[in-house]
Amino acid sequence: MSLSHDYKMDKPVGETRLDRNGQNVIGRALTRFEGPLKVSGTAKYAYEQLIGKMVAYGYLVTAPIGAGRIKRIDPLPALSLKGVLHVVTDERAARGAADPSDSKPAAIKGEVSYHGQPVCMVVAESFEVARDAARLVEVEYEVEAGRYDLATVADEAYDPGEQQMPSTVEKGDFDKAFAAAEVQLDATYTTPSQNSSAMEPHASIADWNGDELTVYGSYQLVSTNVGQLAAALGISKSKVRIVSPYVGGGFGSKLGIAPEAVFAALAAREVGRPVKAVLTRQQVYQTTVRRADTIQRLRIGATRDGRITAIAHETVSGNLPEQNVFEPAGISTVFLYAGDNRRVTHRKADVNILLAASMRAPGEAVGMLALENAIDEMAEKLGLDPIEFRKRNEPAEDPQDGLPFSSRRLVECMDKGAELFGWADRPKAPMSRREGEWHIGIGMSAASRKNMLQPSSARVTLAPDGTALVETDMTDIGTGTYTILQQIAAEMLGLPRESVVVKLGDSALPQGAGSGGSWGANSAGSSVFAACEGIVAEIARRLDLAPDDVTLKDGTVIAGNRQRPVSEIVGKAPIAVIGNFKPGKMAKETHQASYGAHFCEVAVNAVTGETRVRRLLTVAAAGRILNEKTARSQCYGGQIFGIGGALTEELIVDTRTGLLVNHDLAEYHVPVNADIGRLEVVFVDERDPAASPLAAKGIGELAISGVGAAVTNAIYNATGVRVRDYPMTLDKVL
Ligand code: MOS
Repeated sequence: MSLSHDYKMDKPVGETRLDRNGQNVIGRALTRFEGPLKVSGTAKYAYEQLIGKMVAYGYLVTAPIGAGRIKRIDPLPALSLKGVLHVVTDERAARGAADPSDSKPAAIKGEVSYHGQPVCMVVAESFEVARDAARLVEVEYEVEAGRYDLATVADEAYDPGEQQMPSTVEKGDFDKAFAAAEVQLDATYTTPSQNSSAMEPHASIADWNGDELTVYGSYQLVSTNVGQLAAALGISKSKVRIVSPYVGGGFGSKLGIAPEAVFAALAAREVGRPVKAVLTRQQVYQTTVRRADTIQRLRIGATRDGRITAIAHETVSGNLPEQNVFEPAGISTVFLYAGDNRRVTHRKADVNILLAASMRAPGEAVGMLALENAIDEMAEKLGLDPIEFRKRNEPAEDPQDGLPFSSRRLVECMDKGAELFGWADRPKAPMSRREGEWHIGIGMSAASRKNMLQPSSARVTLAPDGTALVETDMTDIGTGTYTILQQIAAEMLGLPRESVVVKLGDSALPQGAGSGGSWGANSAGSSVFAACEGIVAEIARRLDLAPDDVTLKDGTVIAGNRQRPVSEIVGKAPIAVIGNFKPGKMAKETHQASYGAHFCEVAVNAVTGETRVRRLLTVAAAGRILNEKTARSQCYGGQIFGIGGALTEELIVDTRTGLLVNHDLAEYHVPVNADIGRLEVVFVDERDPAASPLAAKGIGELAISGVGAAVTNAIYNATGVRVRDYPMTLDKVL
């Protein structure tokens, strides 16, 4: 029988066992224990499950038109090919839920609203036969005119209402204050659609046992995904199990189930054996989700001495006609800088382009490009150092709603970065440093990322042999969850890390936070913390002591001057406790965000316009760092992602047909090693007592937020060219 221990974040956390147990595991730069499993091919990713079992293979057929109707589907020519077992033409599957906010599949009635929309799935004895047969399915379409260019439909954008955040956030009288401002900036920035480009493509294997379905898949939010799958299939959640122990990256694209999951489930029921379905790279680009393209107008009014009096960030993003989700590009502008008169708006325009949903730091990743470029442009108008201008507008509390910041070390990050990077020696005027044919420039940006928390449960079992087992359906999408949860349990229970086993990614386990929004380690870790507190309480109870009188260290229990092996107190039956973490009042009564600063040096070729990022430094303050190595790796990923967003990443739509033209990694340019110069990451030591019992905040997405603006501010410093249309490809710099 399991005990349970609840932890609700209703008051600030003080010193905890993580601070005083002294096991010296938490925070350390420990290498992931599952790393060798991954690089040796031993870790099983979704598509590698059920190897050697009698399975069938599914291949998705997608619409080759951008808008219109399906008039007729004839699967017979495909079915006549040897080895073809079935063609799933069920409309429920054709739409499937792809976004967590949208758990009910829409009835499609044969409409096509984007190029790449799933139409049917061919099921065959092998992947190759299924793929071949997919060409033989005859689908007759009626093509209609589509809306493929955000710029041409932006003036029809409308208020989609509150989604991830309110669509409009206002205070004071922006128009009046802006008109009266001594110095004004009015600039419009555009950012393109992007794809998460996770290394592992979306894949699902559906396996029925009677009316019970097990899906091995590549997902970020297992318990949410169970609900989506059950809703799409019209069955009870209790009949669906998702197994997802290793995930090869998600970056938002696996927050929801992808189209192959529902198809695979329907197909497996039909053919009476498991069905494996994987999307091709092209289908990942055309059929899963994208980051929305945006048009962002920034207006800032300030006094001549650099106090912001008015700030407005008005944004438009595109999405499918039936979807209201917008890119929350103004999210940081709501609270990052002072100013009494403020307006942040999000409007959505209907386009016939793949579903737009969350991608790495939704909001900040592209919104801070505009904001942090505009802040630099304004600093220049004022004749102020960009850091000095930011400091003059550092708010004492949330400038929108007056809430206290739970912790905010933005100024410290900027100062530390400036010192480490040599900011004082930067070229002060644009185009004033040259090395041969290279213009050299230095730029910076602030970073912020809203801190999010999710309810999470985890079971921790302390065995009679003094080892512990951590179990939750939380995922590890390459972030290091396995190791971080191991570290938390080891520190809390006073065990060496090797004595803690972690099991993740199975919906049969207690419902964890899932991976998304940089809440994973903090939320899931807090539930492990709670479970361990419960175990300590049980040990203390057995010793007739208060929990605070008990210290666990090196596999022993220390109480007063007595020290005994923990196994002696556990006795014969394991102690199992389910820890339930819930965000509480603190999340409402404080404003929580992680902060940082990026510093970048670029070289821009005077002849070709090519930009090389020579150095990039990120200083980050995100509460307690749970594992210095995995946190650093997350930051490297964010930095590289940010460089990609600044210089190369862009989904290009053929505005005649709606086709996403560059739908693979050969044509969609993510940075490769040769594109990346020296990366440095420095953490500012911090505890956030309001954020969680771990005193940690999210870090993964902080590191991408603002990076691109540091790069383009550096390009401006190098060349005097201020391009406001991302990405900054060489044609725009020349
Ligand atoms: Mo997050 S949008 O799941 O990278």
